[in-house]
Amino acid sequence: MECFCLKEVRPELLEKQQEYIDKICAENRILGKKPLAFVETYGCAQNESDSERLKGMLEAMGYDFCGTSVDADLVLYNTCAVRENAELRVFGNIGALKHQKNRKPGLVIGVCGCMMQQAHIAEEIHKKYKHVDMVFGTHSLYMFPEILDKARLGNRVFENEDSEGEIFETESCHRDAPPLAKIPIMYGCNNFCTYCIVPYVRGRERSRSAENILNEVKRVSESGYKEVMLLGQNVNSYGKDLEDGLTFAELLDEVCKVDGIERVRFMTSHPKDISDELIEVMAGNDKICKQLHLPVQCGSDRILKKMNRSYTREKYLQIVKKVRERMPEIVLSTDIIVGFPGETNEDFEDTLSILKEVEYDLVFSFIYSKRKGTPAAEMPDCLTEEEKHRNFDRMQEVQNEISKRRNDAYFGKVEKVLVEGFSKTNAEVLSGRTDGGKVVNFPGGSELVGEIVDVKITECKTWSLTGEIVK
Ligand code: 5AD
Ligand code: SF4
Repeated sequence: MECFCLKEVRPELLEKQQEYIDKICAENRILGKKPLAFVETYGCAQNESDSERLKGMLEAMGYDFCGTSVDADLVLYNTCAVRENAELRVFGNIGALKHQKNRKPGLVIGVCGCMMQQAHIAEEIHKKYKHVDMVFGTHSLYMFPEILDKARLGNRVFENEDSEGEIFETESCHRDAPPLAKIPIMYGCNNFCTYCIVPYVRGRERSRSAENILNEVKRVSESGYKEVMLLGQNVNSYGKDLEDGLTFAELLDEVCKVDGIERVRFMTSHPKDISDELIEVMAGNDKICKQLHLPVQCGSDRILKKMNRSYTREKYLQIVKKVRERMPEIVLSTDIIVGFPGETNEDFEDTLSILKEVEYDLVFSFIYSKRKGTPAAEMPDCLTEEEKHRNFDRMQEVQNEISKRRNDAYFGKVEKVLVEGFSKTNAEVLSGRTDGGKVVNFPGGSELVGEIVDVKITECKTWSLTGEIVK
């Protein structure tokens, strides 16, 4: 576990958090055996990062972790509200815990994160899932130890007030093993894309101070991490809410200067905020990975306007052109929503054509999911679900071919790969990423984990590359 000093959160809140951590830790010590916690995370890298902080608190409170809910004394689901299917899985999972709680009344069940920031969801859990002990939203994550203390005493705790301005800070963090550390640089979003629930459940943009970010980067570097991923819903607007704050491009440069950090990535960028300064800083600094996730969402100007994306297709294509001119090796990825309300088959053809025109390396595609409380939820639809699914499948077919072709271009090349660990499907094969973020699998031993090695690409698949180490 790692500790770091964070001054931007009100000191009295951190003090209170620490008091509860100490209290629970002392109680657990008396038990003589560490209780087990099972934490499951849904959704994006930001949520994974929040879970690392929640797990850091649990560790500080004397908990150990287990791999399934069956063995657990505490089950915590950190939820995602972006699409309905993630929500349904959460409801399914908490429903399934009812029998377990009957068998083991001391089991503490908690549900937190984006879904819980929505009043109607918290209410549903309150009424229909009485075996759930704690519900807390994104704005209350820093209160976790206090909430847990009340739940352990047998209370049902619901904490999901909107409290704009608080940043989820803690002095504890339980990260995935090196070499890659996720570092949040800002929370929330101001963009209000009409389909998206994020601004409602994560609040307005709040940037962490550069000092605290850089301290955390130094800390992870000292613990052996070579690569950092800077996280935010829209990293390009980093610092705009701070007095005398660095710009995102300046922050990137500073992060690269930290001793021991060899690679820096970031996610996610809103196309409207990509500055020339950022493109120049990326192009001019070898430590900044040549990878850009630039969600376009749709290729039709008519729909982009309805989505409130604040750019046109032409403007977006100009950005891609500029980026590719300065960094021909850039690996580009995007997000696409198929079936936004009012999207016609003609609009969908525009999306297909932008995929063909840009030739992304990777596309994350989603069928539109209606989110209660967002403007798009009130917009009329014109395609049937069947038509939307047909378009979605067609889009994936087109993109798979493009992704395969983009990967084929790596055949025979030697790539610098930072080895992350063993492949999930084969324990004798190492897995790592190129500078551009492409996954490469190759034979090798555990001594290479965390190292940057030269790998010659011998096979190119749609989603990954295969290779062999060159001496
Ligand atoms: N339906 C489908 N996809 C969505 N996304 C956000 N909101 C929705 C929604 N209501 C997608 C966008 C975003 C990504 C993280 O999730 O493409 O970029
Ligand atoms: Fe959602 Fe748009 Fe903000 Fe991304 S930029 S989190 S899609 S509102």
